[in-house]
Amino acid sequence: MDIRLDYDRSKTDLSEIMHELEHAFSRILRKRNQGYLGFMDLVSHQEDIERIKEKSEWIRDRFDNFVVIGIGGSSLGNAALHEALNGKYYNDKPKSVRNGPKFYVLDNPDPESVGDLLDILEPEKTVFNVITKSGSTSETMSNFMIVYDWLYKSLPGKAVAERIIATTDANNSILLDIAREKGLDTFYIPENVGGRFSILSPVGLLSACTCGIDIDGLLMGAGDMAERCSNFYPEDNPALMDAAVHYMMMKTGRNISVLMPYADRLRYLSDWYAQLWAESLGKKSDNDEKVVHTGQTPVKALGTIDQHSQVQLYAEGPDDKIITFLRVERFRRDMAIPGRFSGYKNLAMLAERGLSELMNAEQAATEDALSEFGRPILTIVFPEINEETVGQFIYMQELKAAYCGELLNINAFNQPGVELGKVLTRKYMMETGGNSERFKNQPSTKDGI
Ligand code: PA5
Repeated sequence: MDIRLDYDRSKTDLSEIMHELEHAFSRILRKRNQGYLGFMDLVSHQEDIERIKEKSEWIRDRFDNFVVIGIGGSSLGNAALHEALNGKYYNDKPKSVRNGPKFYVLDNPDPESVGDLLDILEPEKTVFNVITKSGSTSETMSNFMIVYDWLYKSLPGKAVAERIIATTDANNSILLDIAREKGLDTFYIPENVGGRFSILSPVGLLSACTCGIDIDGLLMGAGDMAERCSNFYPEDNPALMDAAVHYMMMKTGRNISVLMPYADRLRYLSDWYAQLWAESLGKKSDNDEKVVHTGQTPVKALGTIDQHSQVQLYAEGPDDKIITFLRVERFRRDMAIPGRFSGYKNLAMLAERGLSELMNAEQAATEDALSEFGRPILTIVFPEINEETVGQFIYMQELKAAYCGELLNINAFNQPGVELGKVLTRKYMMETGGNSERFKNQPSTKDGI
């Protein structure tokens, strides 16, 4: 079951960039062979798969809640996999129907959300997976310390250690030091796999497997896509074609990349994609140190909801976007629209049709309308949403980001702009020592806001 990239071939003349594509393709191959692009190897040999499965089973037998503590590349993929493959009401299903514990993500250090989540969890019944490649991200480590303390106040030391799993770098990480000191079970993120490229490493796989997702299927799908993309010809290599079209659009001033799935389950894949695309391509300098300020701003949209919100802008606003639709050919469940009020003029055509049909008619209508307005469109078709197709999509987008980095002659694998923010946060917290009026929580007032 293969996902496929649909595009208007008459509008896609790659001849003028063929040479650049060849160059990008061979540079990626060379970097991979030199051991830089670890994300490409995750599909074939991961040592930890059996241990992930064993740990998942151990968790499923003992706990009711699984909480990922992480941020950015250390949480977005977890949420995306979970939403795509377990659906948005997973936690509300009875335990007997769910495939594992309830699933939560603790990412933002927003005191109200963190407090609200801990209010509904019971320490004995909850296991936490703290994920940070660097091992010191302030948001993640703050949430981790709060959780550690919360567990520690009601459970003996050994029980606390059993309830925390650390996923981090194998060599250089404060979290690793803590894990060793406290005897926490640990999974490692390969050194050559960057945060936003780590979804198919233990970062994303442990929570997925624990919540019943078939991780072999995911990796198999990714592997199938890797195989397809081993071919240079863009017609046969979906990641290269997708990168080529986006690159050509950037050259013509389309500096916004909209991803618009027509399926609720694919919604968080847009969040994951947004980070991948923004952090990989948003760069000040190219590989020759020339200041280029390049990148393409990712925009998340969801069909049909954003037809009633953003599509007006896409159709008639500035011609500065390329829009990628995600379309599902076969929803695994359908709902028929009963013909109860079919006597009414605009309701007759809905009667006895499936909601899947309505979703896809809306997608086709939006696609055709935007094409008529001359807006560039790509569509990625999922035969259905399952582990295999989601794995294919993930690998395709990761490789597309890598190719596009080469086409733009930039380093797609660093994030100096993010690092500066991290350094300044530490500086502000250090300087103020908790006494700054600027950052301090204000006392409540009677009148409120
Ligand atoms: O892609 C990246 O490297 C970053 O966006 C990270 O995922 C994010 O900053 C979190 O970093 P860490 O996993 O080190 O806590």
